[in-house]
Amino acid sequence: MAAVLEVSHLVKQYPSLTALDGVSLRIDEGEIFALLGPNGAGKTTLIGAVCGLVKKTRGSIRLFGTDLEVDPLTPRYRVGLVPQEINFDPFFTVRESLDIQQGYFGQRADRARVDELLEAMSLTGKADSPTRTLSGGMKRRLLIAKALVHRPKLVFLDEPTAGVDVELRRDLWAYVRTLRAQGTTVVLTTHYLEEAEALADRVGIIDHGRLLLVEEKRLLLERLGERRLEVHFKEPVAALPPAVVKGALSADGRHFTFTAAAGTESATEVLSLLFAAGLPVADVTMAPARLEDILLRVLKEGAAS
Ligand SMILES: Nc1ncnc2c1ncn2[C@@H]1O[C@H](COP(=O)(O)OP(=O)(O)OP(=O)(O)O)[C@@H](O)[C@H]1O
Ligand SMILES: [Mg+2]
Repeated sequence: MAAVLEVSHLVKQYPSLTALDGVSLRIDEGEIFALLGPNGAGKTTLIGAVCGLVKKTRGSIRLFGTDLEVDPLTPRYRVGLVPQEINFDPFFTVRESLDIQQGYFGQRADRARVDELLEAMSLTGKADSPTRTLSGGMKRRLLIAKALVHRPKLVFLDEPTAGVDVELRRDLWAYVRTLRAQGTTVVLTTHYLEEAEALADRVGIIDHGRLLLVEEKRLLLERLGERRLEVHFKEPVAALPPAVVKGALSADGRHFTFTAAAGTESATEVLSLLFAAGLPVADVTMAPARLEDILLRVLKEGAAS
């Protein structure tokens, strides 16, 4: 797999703060990479350094195989950015601002491309409206359209769905998957972990400018994900069968909970022991492994180390 982006030992030092503290990361062609971390972790700074909005202090960045110190411009023509902050000229119409964006990237006006993106972002009806008259969520969707209008090979989506309604968020997810299917590489930051869970191939967790973890999402959920089994009894249970060594019975004897660290203990085994002992099981729920729990755990362990 070809590397689209290779960041090594990247440092961004502000006078009183180290925003990036030696970040090394490789992003491959055609993947969706979710960069997760709390407010102020360094996500936007990292994206800014790649896109030329933040001047790095040290380290190197290679985009499509080219070191940005050797050629800061050419590789960036193939990059699209949905910035976290809404930043367009309020006096142009939606269509004009997309046309202008194509021009910025040295491309001839491509009406079909603009129409396609207006459609994909559900903005067709607003094509001739001045951007200042758009709602917050519509502005965010226009930002996404702008970032894609020149058909970039690498797209940064910095919290693309903040303030976007549920239905459109789902549409956007579908669109991001289409992009990947077309071979576009996507780097996404989001505080909606559900979004990362739905989209990401790989996940990176950053805090205080340091990458704490980079892993395939599926493997990460398997390795660190804890599934929670909850059993409710019809009537209070005095004691658990001796074979059930994991999990806990509530004080009132009505609930049993068990956390299955993925790949180790099996919830189904525990359940069958409860049934075999003839306990009055009324209801069983199984909560899947969540990225949210993993993120909180990794951040806590990172802070302690
Ligand atoms: N121009 C600047 N001068 C000084 N410090 C800055 C500047 N820009 C960003 N920072 C600091 O760098 C750190 C990283 O900020 P950054 O915007 O990268 O965080 P983030 O991970 O994107 O957070 P969020 O989830 O809130 O968007 C923060 O502590 C921020 O205050
Ligand atoms: Mg940010």
